[in-house]
Amino acid sequence: MTVRTILKMGDPRLLRIAQPVTEFDTDELHLLLTDLLDTMRAANGAGLAAPQIGVDLQMVVFGSGQPNPRYPQAPIVPRTVLINPVITPIGADEQLDWEGCLSVPGMRGMVPRWSQVRYTGFDVWGEPIDRTVEGFHARVVQHECDHLWGKLYPMRMRDFTQFGFTEVLFPGIDAQEND
Ligand code: NI
Repeated sequence: MTVRTILKMGDPRLLRIAQPVTEFDTDELHLLLTDLLDTMRAANGAGLAAPQIGVDLQMVVFGSGQPNPRYPQAPIVPRTVLINPVITPIGADEQLDWEGCLSVPGMRGMVPRWSQVRYTGFDVWGEPIDRTVEGFHARVVQHECDHLWGKLYPMRMRDFTQFGFTEVLFPGIDAQEND
């Protein structure tokens, strides 16, 4: 088990456009997946992208297949590893909701996202993934894949009156690190 250090906003490695994975089912890729999952679990994250641990590759993990202790009311998202993703919005509907990020610890902001998206990509063995999702699942995949394009959620915000410290915005909630 290797829990890696999560880079924080301000680190230029979070602003890179990540490189596509060219070889699947390699020892290196399986090790990277293990590190991403271990690091995400240790932080109780809803997802984690390779650039957040300093790895310049288009690979994200998200979902747990069970309720997230920090988002107990959120729908369950299946545990997914997604490589070289492409996200296509379905329709023009947007939803606003609170997000946090393990790279922006202690804060939350109200972020607009497409309500429904189709995402395609590959798993660690190179098997194709093709899903159409909505709501929280769609939000998580948009947030994580944004890390591959050098975007952190504050860059997607339009109303900075709804941006602040978790402990102030949501007093009484156990304000651990956010994702
Ligand atoms: Ni994030």
